[in-house]
Amino acid sequence: MKNTLCLEIASLPENVGVARVTLAAFAALDSFSVAEIEEIKVAVSEAVTNAIVHGYRDSPGVVMLRAELEHSRLCIVVEDTGVGIEDIEQARKPAFSTDPERMGLGFVFMESFMDELEVVSAPGAGTRVRMTKTAARHEVREEE
Ligand SMILES: Nc1ncnc2c1ncn2[C@@H]1O[C@H](COP(=O)(O)OP(=O)(O)O)[C@@H](O)[C@H]1O
Ligand SMILES: [Mg+2]
Repeated sequence: MKNTLCLEIASLPENVGVARVTLAAFAALDSFSVAEIEEIKVAVSEAVTNAIVHGYRDSPGVVMLRAELEHSRLCIVVEDTGVGIEDIEQARKPAFSTDPERMGLGFVFMESFMDELEVVSAPGAGTRVRMTKTAARHEVREEE
């Protein structure tokens, strides 16, 4: 049976850690290694931080996290209904940031630490980041 998780957090910086440890605990139910769980934690932190500092930069809101775990494959969706992204291709480039105080590496980390990264966004509507990762030591089953 597929395991699922749903978490809604207010866009407060202190909730980044809550999301990170919750998703880490969820991933630990399957065969992810400690190193892989560290990577998942970084990816979740980056996506949630982006929703809070960029998405809800003008007004606070709710960050929604959904996760699915099946056959050692973890899928995480982080969604906000904030300001959205004008140019997704540009936003995903290394060292691009609309905030001169930031390094512009969040999407780069998400992309390198997860197997897949999909970003859907529209100005004024919000942003949805979908990431998947399969545990390296997962056992291939007959039905897969
Ligand atoms: N959830 C979001 N809502 C609005 N804009 C976003 C969101 N996530 C990312 N962005 C935009 O994409 C840019 C790049 O994001 P990222 O790679 O994490 O770098 P950084 O957060 O350091 O700026 C951000 O500067 C911001 O303009
Ligand atoms: Mg970022």
